[in-house]
Amino acid sequence: MCGIVGYIGYRDAYPIIIKGLKRLEYRGYDSAGITLFDDSSTVVKTKGKVSDLEQTAASHDNKGKTLGMGHTRWATHGIPSDLNSHPHLSNSGKIAIVHNGIIENYAALKKMLSDNGFHFISDTDTEVLVNLIEFIKTSQNLKVGKAVQIALTQVVGAYAIAVIDADRPGEVVVAKLGSPLAIGIGKDEYFIASDASPFIEYTKRTIYLDDNEMAVISREQGFKMYSIINDKVITPIIQDIQLSLETIEKGGFDYFMLKEIHEQPHAINDTFRGRLLVDQRRINISGIEHNKEIFKNASRITIIACGTSWHAGLVAEYLFEDAARIPVEVEYASEFRYRNPVINKGDIVIAISQSGETADTLAAIKLAKENGAFVFGICNVVGSSIARAADGGAYTHAGPEIGVASTKAFTTQLTVIIMMGLRLGQLKGTIDNADFDRVAKQLAALPKLIESVLAYDKQIEKIAREYKDASNFLYLGRGYNFPAALEGALKLKEISYIHAEGYPAAEMKHGPIALIDKNMPVVVIATNKGHYEKIVSNVQEIKSRNAKIISIVTKGDESVKLLSDHVIEIPEVTEALVPILASVPLQLLSYHIAIMRGCNVDQPRNLAKSVTVE
Ligand code: M6R
Repeated sequence: MCGIVGYIGYRDAYPIIIKGLKRLEYRGYDSAGITLFDDSSTVVKTKGKVSDLEQTAASHDNKGKTLGMGHTRWATHGIPSDLNSHPHLSNSGKIAIVHNGIIENYAALKKMLSDNGFHFISDTDTEVLVNLIEFIKTSQNLKVGKAVQIALTQVVGAYAIAVIDADRPGEVVVAKLGSPLAIGIGKDEYFIASDASPFIEYTKRTIYLDDNEMAVISREQGFKMYSIINDKVITPIIQDIQLSLETIEKGGFDYFMLKEIHEQPHAINDTFRGRLLVDQRRINISGIEHNKEIFKNASRITIIACGTSWHAGLVAEYLFEDAARIPVEVEYASEFRYRNPVINKGDIVIAISQSGETADTLAAIKLAKENGAFVFGICNVVGSSIARAADGGAYTHAGPEIGVASTKAFTTQLTVIIMMGLRLGQLKGTIDNADFDRVAKQLAALPKLIESVLAYDKQIEKIAREYKDASNFLYLGRGYNFPAALEGALKLKEISYIHAEGYPAAEMKHGPIALIDKNMPVVVIATNKGHYEKIVSNVQEIKSRNAKIISIVTKGDESVKLLSDHVIEIPEVTEALVPILASVPLQLLSYHIAIMRGCNVDQPRNLAKSVTVE
């Protein structure tokens, strides 16, 4: 997590860095800091958000400095505080660093540096790294670039760093392992950032550093890239950024989350455009077509993911087993990577991740690959680490998702999964044409159907008003609606801080039913496909314990409606598609409750959008 931004060129660095940090604030917002450098350097940092930094920095002279770097932090080592904020300076005050990642062996390095006379004022691993660089630079009489390279060979962990040294004014050194880093190449100017969003209005040309790569960017000598491992010069690959400014702005909505909820019809359309060919009875996902034989011969699939993406994986389990008769296991990446999973050569592992940077998922992929698995990635962020680590994959094409709570990322992941289920069914010969056509047609109609569900916004807002002060919520569903219930509960808890649990509806009677009384709102996804009568019975059981029931039902439903205090109707679709439609009112419900409770839905406390620490 954490976001870093840097600039070296001829413009005022300050506004570029502040604006860039605001765009990267989704990566962490515990504290923020900036250093500007020309003839002299200033460091300003503060606990809190980038807007707090702006206020603190207002009393400084920030004009006319054409080199600088900034940081927005998600705390790992050391509490959020002014002192622990980045940039960190070396003991001499000459070297400054911003860092996204974790230095795992910082304690040993700190001891070695202390033994050599260094002192530390913060609790961070980053301050250890900047002093290690200084120690190597001064003790071996090296330029800062070389000192960074040697220091990084001694470091265990993950990093994206930018370093400046007062002895080399007009130079920035950057390096990457594990955490993302992009360099924007302009005319006589360079931009550095955790993703390309801080510099898209200045240049479309970018280099995404690979792991173990570093670069020295100099005003006089331009740009040079090296391998951290052996110091060899690397030829950079410059790419064109496919990102537009309006996709990363709020576009008239109060919050990114609300914008992203409303973008779902469009996003889903982008996900299946050119891939879902209903009339030809064809799914055209190149990552599958290029690896057709592997999928055809699949004897089992393991899905690895975290959070919302893990919920999408559960839907995939139901669908792939049903439509393609392939056994599927869904694993939390963080658990998978630390046990001794049975993965054999030729096994298929599907990694699902919006950001494509989640550290646990990335490590789980590594483990799967070491064991000979074929790894297929479902990612949103193009060119992300997971997308690059996978052997094949499918992008969700949801566009940038900036709100920390996943919304369109989830429903577009499900869209990819539905298409994959259809194609795997074809490859395995386990889906008949009629079923294929029915699901494919409904999938193609989803954007319109989602529009119709979004129209219930006002009704959902009213329900939210009634329950905004609840302390607990239960979310129930069966079959495909069970993952949708889990996702609904996660959405509510992460942005409103109300405790919420998702359960398979039939599990209620094995314990959670004890929680139910008249104060417990229970959200039930009780659509008419699957085990409808069974869930009606479950709703009866809850009703008899006086719970307040908010149900998501199929249009025209009678039975569940009679038992419910509030009903949200969604159009009738096949079972596998219900989680997509049902998620929309659940997202809106969470959104409204959180707003009414005064929460910042885009930046919920303690969270960050991309979790690049384990
Ligand atoms: O980028 P990823 O999909 O790998 O992220 C996984 C989780 O961190 C993420 O889904 C998280 O649970 C979201 N905050 C959910 O809204």
